[in-house]
Amino acid sequence: MELAKKRQDNVANGHGSICGIYIEKAIGSNLIDVDGNVFIDYAGGIGAMNVGHSHPKVIDAIEKQINQYVHPCFTVAPYQPYVDLAHRLADIVPIKGDCKSVFFNSGAEAVENSIKISKTYTGRTHILVFSHAYHGRTQMTMSMTYKEDPYKKGFGPFLDNVHRIDFPKKSLDLSSLKIDPESLACVVIEPVAGEGGFIPVAHNAMGQIRKFCDDNDIVMVADEVQTGFGRTGTLFSMEQFKVEPDLFIIAKSIAGGLPLSGVVGRSEIMDSVHTGGIGGTFGGNPVSCAAALAVLNVMDDERLPERAIEIGKKVIDTINLLKKEISWISEIRGLGAMQGIVIIDDNDKPDKEHTSRIHQHALNNGLVMITAGTYGNIIRTLMPLTITDEELDESLEILSSALKIP
Ligand SMILES: Cc1ncc(COP(=O)(O)O)c(C=O)c1O
Repeated sequence: MELAKKRQDNVANGHGSICGIYIEKAIGSNLIDVDGNVFIDYAGGIGAMNVGHSHPKVIDAIEKQINQYVHPCFTVAPYQPYVDLAHRLADIVPIKGDCKSVFFNSGAEAVENSIKISKTYTGRTHILVFSHAYHGRTQMTMSMTYKEDPYKKGFGPFLDNVHRIDFPKKSLDLSSLKIDPESLACVVIEPVAGEGGFIPVAHNAMGQIRKFCDDNDIVMVADEVQTGFGRTGTLFSMEQFKVEPDLFIIAKSIAGGLPLSGVVGRSEIMDSVHTGGIGGTFGGNPVSCAAALAVLNVMDDERLPERAIEIGKKVIDTINLLKKEISWISEIRGLGAMQGIVIIDDNDKPDKEHTSRIHQHALNNGLVMITAGTYGNIIRTLMPLTITDEELDESLEILSSALKIP
């Protein structure tokens, strides 16, 4: 194919693509490639398209904003969509008391900034993260990320102020913590480990993390980059844990496919940074902020968090039924419409090759999916929450037949 050759000749090999299809158009839950093939999208731009591709209300907001101004730069001259979005988030973020926001471009950039904010607030420099964590690909966030290959391979040395303990699947285990808790600026936790394999934090463990932070004056940071904006059944997944973190990191589905990320949290902590200490050229771009305001309206109008629960239930029921007859499905786990199907071999070990075959079979039959997990053996569901019942049924049929191949 001409495009594939052009890519091969001109795009750096380091930027891989999971599916070799070239996209011409994307609407709702469908991706249409340059040959006219239609795919149902279970990747959702890696969890960034909870409102679906080209949602008319989001496109409308983008168009209106583009016709006004595109980039005065908030650092130079501020504008309304940024301020409106910060105001809106302060209202809806599940933290009691006053909250403020600051916006960036990528999830990793927001994670970096949550660390900077935690450092200035506490006057400390150390960071605690967990096994299976994924926080991004910059130097700081690579150090926080767990999986070596491909994210860290050859890119060391990593920062020695990042400490790691076991992911709290059952409870918070501090036995391997080698540092004085009072030198920790923050603990950063994904409520459901995303790239690390769709592993939810145990309910009681989230409370234990909160207590550990309270006892030692540590900032608790929830990385909701992948779990956020309705994916797990509530706007923020932390609502379901009934625990308030101090800071939230948001990105991906906040802006309907445009680059936008942010840190939202307690005003006292957010305001600890000196003026000019955080910011950037494109952070909180007005077009992305306008899209985000439209996304929040769509979340409400179409009750997408509730829809995530329905979708999740249907996926879980289908897979659990299949699991009875298919030995290589070990479990399905997650929250709401963020479900991971775990594929194992005869010795109960993660089976990456088999997972790849399932993935390819689904792709050949019209379903785009991505995998996850430290061992690459988890099939994940990140479909738009606007997926219709018919599309969901059709996609589950494709997924089921792919899961049956040995
Ligand atoms: C939980 C989590 N944090 C941070 C990131 C990094 O976001 P980005 O790729 O926008 O830098 C991701 C991306 O997958 C993520 O899932």
